[in-house]
Amino acid sequence: MTEQAYSENDPYWGKIAGRYDRYMRRVKYYNAMVGRIAEEVGTAERVLDVATGTGLVALELAARSHMVEAVDLSPQMIGQASEKASHLNLDNVRFSVQSAYDLKFPDGSFDAIVVCNALHVMQRADLALAELKRVLKPGCLLIAPTYCHGQTLVAHIASRLMTLTGFRAYRRFTYTSYILLIKRSGFRVEKLDVWPGAIPLAYVTARLEG
Ligand SMILES: C[S@@+](CC[C@H](N)C(=O)[O-])C[C@H]1O[C@@H](n2cnc3c(N)ncnc32)[C@H](O)[C@@H]1O
Repeated sequence: MTEQAYSENDPYWGKIAGRYDRYMRRVKYYNAMVGRIAEEVGTAERVLDVATGTGLVALELAARSHMVEAVDLSPQMIGQASEKASHLNLDNVRFSVQSAYDLKFPDGSFDAIVVCNALHVMQRADLALAELKRVLKPGCLLIAPTYCHGQTLVAHIASRLMTLTGFRAYRRFTYTSYILLIKRSGFRVEKLDVWPGAIPLAYVTARLEG
């Protein structure tokens, strides 16, 4: 892993790893979003979940029999996820500590990639997207729902207030700036659904030209 990736490991995620699931299950849209991701992954065999956190998405996909690799920069998050996988007796999901900027997978390894609720907390979302492009098979799907902290004044204020808890959105996307980033990273955007709220969600599915 690169020095840059290590230095970016935000201690916030390690501190909240033990209570992350309880918190997320109460966040608006979160459960619906996980269900929708599982539907869209469809019949893809080998799936990568990037910035998996405690594996909420990855474990749902594994329960539906996909072969899942799931990575996160925080060892504490990966610890929680691995513990849940062993309790559930799932052997088709593998969790590892990796940076989205420097993935340890060969080119074209995956039939679908999920990066859920994460690009806005990365300082270099562009580097992450370049890596996702490299490891995704041509013609395959990127599923990338992201909260847009810059979309409205209310979202912007809420985002600033959240910094008091230690949370930091490095990118305060609007729908437009987010779509632009995905397109500039070499993906064809197939769908943008916007889910309104105090911090609105941009649910994006995009395809790598094949
Ligand atoms: C808001 S959580 C999302 C977790 C999960 N995807 C979900 O939807 O529940 C953001 C996660 O991104 C991870 N993360 C931040 N920067 C990263 C990077 N460069 N590479 C891999 N993971 C990263 C954090 O450690 C954290 O677990």
